[in-house]
Amino acid sequence: MSTLVAYFSATGTTARAAKALAEAIGADLFEIAPEHPYSSADLNWNDKNSRSSREMADEKCRPAVTGDAPDMSAYDTVFVGFPIWWYVEPRIVDTFLEAHDFSGKTIVPFATSGGSGLGKAPQRMASLAPGATVTEGRLLNGRLDANDLRAWAEGSAR
Ligand SMILES: Cc1cc2nc3c(=O)[nH]c(=O)nc-3n(C[C@H](O)[C@H](O)[C@H](O)COP(=O)(O)O)c2cc1C
Repeated sequence: MSTLVAYFSATGTTARAAKALAEAIGADLFEIAPEHPYSSADLNWNDKNSRSSREMADEKCRPAVTGDAPDMSAYDTVFVGFPIWWYVEPRIVDTFLEAHDFSGKTIVPFATSGGSGLGKAPQRMASLAPGATVTEGRLLNGRLDANDLRAWAEGSAR
């Protein structure tokens, strides 16, 4: 069985981390692509009416994704990467989790942020992926070393 690195990235930071991780560990890479890409106005956290503010204010919000879905049955470990939004995973990550059957698989969260940790994201993700083991995950902020990524990934995968 193989490993998948799935990620959502609004402005490219998490995409870079995801690519570095997938390359370091030889995993497949999958982008969780929004049907409607986020504009900079959408991402304005100072505006409580911006799209991201409205989405994050609604726990049940599930923004639509586009593109082909990966064949989850091919993977036993799925790294799921995202930017921290309001201390947790963006709702579109919840869309992705609910769209697939992760039972029996290991989900390893990773995130980039302005400084916040993963917060309650792993617990929230576990509640949306019944039967999966969700690890505590880690931030992938800053410079990423391939050996460090490999060592962490080996300790996280099952
Ligand atoms: C709507 C929104 C909310 C955010 N909330 C947080 C936060 O709670 N804590 C934090 O450290 N950074 C926060 N950030 C910053 C992002 O997590 C950070 O810039 C991230 O690396 C962006 O990743 P991306 O380029 O893959 O989208 C927020 C950014 C946006 C757009």
